[in-house]
Amino acid sequence: MFDATTIDIFNTVAKDSLRLSPNWSAASTKATDLSLHQIAPYIGRMKTSMAKSLMLEYTNAGDLVVDPFCGCGVAVLEAAANGRRVVAGDWNPYAVLLTKAKLFPPSSLDAANRRLQATWVMSQRLHSDQDLRKIPTWVRQFFHPETLRTALAFRDACVARGDIFLLACFLGVLHHQRPGFLSYPSSHLVPYLRDRRFPREQYPEMYKERDVLSRMQAKIRRTFKRPVTRYTESRRVLHVDAREFPRLRQISAVITSPPYMNELDYVRDNRLRLWFIDRSLPQGLELKRRDRESEYRALLMSVCSRLASGIKPGGYIILVVGDATRGSGRPGRTDFITRKVFESEPTLQVFGLEQIYSDIIPNIRRSRRECTGTKSETVLIYKKASTKPKAHGSSSAPRK
Ligand SMILES: C[S@@+](CC[C@H](N)C(=O)[O-])C[C@H]1O[C@@H](n2cnc3c(N)ncnc32)[C@H](O)[C@@H]1O
Repeated sequence: MFDATTIDIFNTVAKDSLRLSPNWSAASTKATDLSLHQIAPYIGRMKTSMAKSLMLEYTNAGDLVVDPFCGCGVAVLEAAANGRRVVAGDWNPYAVLLTKAKLFPPSSLDAANRRLQATWVMSQRLHSDQDLRKIPTWVRQFFHPETLRTALAFRDACVARGDIFLLACFLGVLHHQRPGFLSYPSSHLVPYLRDRRFPREQYPEMYKERDVLSRMQAKIRRTFKRPVTRYTESRRVLHVDAREFPRLRQISAVITSPPYMNELDYVRDNRLRLWFIDRSLPQGLELKRRDRESEYRALLMSVCSRLASGIKPGGYIILVVGDATRGSGRPGRTDFITRKVFESEPTLQVFGLEQIYSDIIPNIRRSRRECTGTKSETVLIYKKASTKPKAHGSSSAPRK
């Protein structure tokens, strides 16, 4: 049955251009996905099967694929693993770290273990430098003091050695309620302590010191379970505001999911992992919530028109947009606003809407499961005209 969003789409787009829930809506593909995808969690990430099928359907080997809001790099990992050239960017340091770790991993499990060994040795020398009194209380409350001391030393060693892959793996085991993680019982995606659900008196083992090295070894093994066989093409990951994204040429496809009208707060919801990246929270990424619609419109317009001229004739802009519901009370506004941007912005009028897909986000991928917020997403596939249309009112006669 169709939800309100779908009906809205039916009213505005020819019925035969809409396909509902293609193969990516099926059950989780976690058991067959590249295991690098699971290096660490990220809110609002793209469905792997969706990224893969979009990549295979709309791009070819050797093509240049761009994602200016790459998040944890789902789309660009699929692109790089399938022989596409990749330029990715995000303004969130955690997103950039994860994407770099996925695109530039060690060449093998053995190589990763050698790096772990060297980093571990270095971290032991840094152990005595750790002064927990300097660590903010909100961070300390997640860990046994000895686990925290070792974790901080390990983090410092990763940074000193410039080992982004190991730091990403470390952030992947930072917090959860399961035994393979470093924190006291807490949630995995957004950091909340679960001490009421698992009281200390009833679950004393969950509050004991945890061994960092064995958890890192297990994490690395998991990450290499289904590795990328070989990267054959160039990869670049930039820490950049998408509005300043480099003006590239010969782009075959921009495949991205922009922030959903500030439905998610990428600093607050990643705060513990962000703090471990540089021992503070990044400034200047706070979301202004004054006028979410016009901010979303302005961001989209600026980024898409910046990249549009570098897209090859016949190339694509593929946008995965979440349907904003929280606060606005009007579901499905995001894809509507997106379509309006493409209709009104002159630099985007050479793009035709070729296809729309509508997809329900399963609870398991949502950061707050049972409450309001983004429950479905829409995939808008815009294709650039193969030849330049004549400008309106232009004449073939030379100007005087
Ligand atoms: C919906 S998420 C993208 C998720 C991504 N497709 C993935 O699979 O993880 C939107 C991303 O946009 C980033 N972002 C928000 N505003 C940005 C801006 N002005 N410039 C660059 N990145 C931005 C956020 O940090 C977030 O990672």
